[in-house]
Amino acid sequence: MSSIALEKVVKRYGAIEVVHSIDLSIKKGEFVVLLGPSGCGKTTTLRMVAGLEDVSDGRLSIGGRVVNDVAPKDRGVAMVFQNYALYPHMSVRQNMEFALRPLKLTPAEVDRRVRETAAILGLDALLARRPSALSGGQRQRVAMGRAMVRTPDVFLFDEPLSNLDAKLRTQVRWEIGKLHKRLGTTILYVTHDQVEAMTLADKIVIMRDGHVAQVGSPEDVYTRPSNTFVATFIGSPAMNLIPARLMGGRLQAEPFTLPLPDRFAGRTVEGQALLIGVRPSDIALTPVDAPGAMGATVEVTEYLGDDALLDIRVGPHELIAQVPAANRPANDASISVTFSTAGLHLFDAATGASLLA
Ligand SMILES: Nc1ncnc2c1ncn2[C@@H]1O[C@H](COP(=O)(O)OP(=O)(O)OP(=O)(O)O)[C@@H](O)[C@H]1O
Ligand SMILES: [Mg+2]
Repeated sequence: MSSIALEKVVKRYGAIEVVHSIDLSIKKGEFVVLLGPSGCGKTTTLRMVAGLEDVSDGRLSIGGRVVNDVAPKDRGVAMVFQNYALYPHMSVRQNMEFALRPLKLTPAEVDRRVRETAAILGLDALLARRPSALSGGQRQRVAMGRAMVRTPDVFLFDEPLSNLDAKLRTQVRWEIGKLHKRLGTTILYVTHDQVEAMTLADKIVIMRDGHVAQVGSPEDVYTRPSNTFVATFIGSPAMNLIPARLMGGRLQAEPFTLPLPDRFAGRTVEGQALLIGVRPSDIALTPVDAPGAMGATVEVTEYLGDDALLDIRVGPHELIAQVPAANRPANDASISVTFSTAGLHLFDAATGASLLA
C-alpha cells in the first residue's frame, strides 16, 4: 500500500491552474524529493498533502484513506517549514511540548516523547535554552524535533536547509538522511537544490510548470533523463545539446558526424531533427589523429582544482567540457576532442523527448 497517493491532483487559484493533474505514489518509508525551478508548484503540492491548501480536483490519499476533506491535524503528517518559526519566548523543551498540546497526552508521556526526540536529534543538552541561544543548525533540529514528537506517519519538508550556510547545510542534510534511515518514516521533501535531491532521495520527482517531468531514482534521472528539461536541469554544469540530423545512418552536426550508437537503432528515422546530449565530463581531450577526433578552440578555461571547465567551440557549437585540470589547455588553444559514445543522449528536437524514453 502506498503511504501517499496523488491521483490527477489539480490546484487552481481562481481561474489560474498551477498544478496540472499530477499522479504520484509514495511508498511507506520512502524518501521522495520534489525538485524543480522556482514557481513550478512544489510548495503548493506539499501544502495540499499537508492539508494547508484545498485540492481543486483529483484524489489525495494518505495511508489508503482519501483525505481531500480531512483536517490537517487528522492526517498523520507533520510539516517542517523553510523558516522554522520557533517560539522565541519558549525554551527548546517548551517548543516541543507545545506541538503536543492538541494530543492531550499525560505529562509523563509528553516528557517521554520530548526526551526521546531530543536524544535522537542530539538536543538533550539544549532543552532549557531559548532559540536565540542556538545556532542555525540547532534551531533547524528543534524545528524537526517539534514535528517528530508527534510521531507522524509522514514528514513533509519545504526547503528545510535554505536558511543555513553552506557548511551547516551539508551537516544537517547528512543528519536528515541518517534520521530517515533510523526512523524509516515516509518523507516528502521539497527543494530546488539538486545536490540535496540526489543525496537524500530514494525517488526524485522533477517538476516543471505544474507538471511532473520525470519520476525516478537519482541514477535514473541522471543517466536516463526522459527529456531535455530533465537532462539540462540535473547535472552541473548542464548537459550540452547540439542540433543534429540523422543522415545515412550517422548523426550529422556540422562540422562533424558521429556514428549512431547501437542502442538508438530503430528509435529514429532518416532525416529526423535531433538534439545530441553530451555531459561536460563526457567530452575528452584527444590527440588530433585519434579516430573521431573533432577540432575545437578553447575560448575560456576555468580552474576548479581537480578539474577544469573549458568553454570550447566546435564549428558553430559552443560547448562546455570538464577535463582533468592537470592537462588543461590554454585559452585560445586549438585542441581535439571526442565524445564518449556510452554517454551520448539523443532527443527529438521538436518535442524534447528522449529517444530511449
Ligand atoms: N495564493 C496564490 N494565488 C495565486 N497563485 C499562487 C498562489 N500561491 C502560489 N501561486 C502560484 O503558483 C505557482 C506555484 O507556486 P509554488 O509556491 O508552489 O512554487 P515552488 O515550486 O514552491 O517555487 P519556489 O521554489 O520559488 O518555492 C507559482 O506560479 C505561484 O505564483
Ligand atoms: Mg516553494
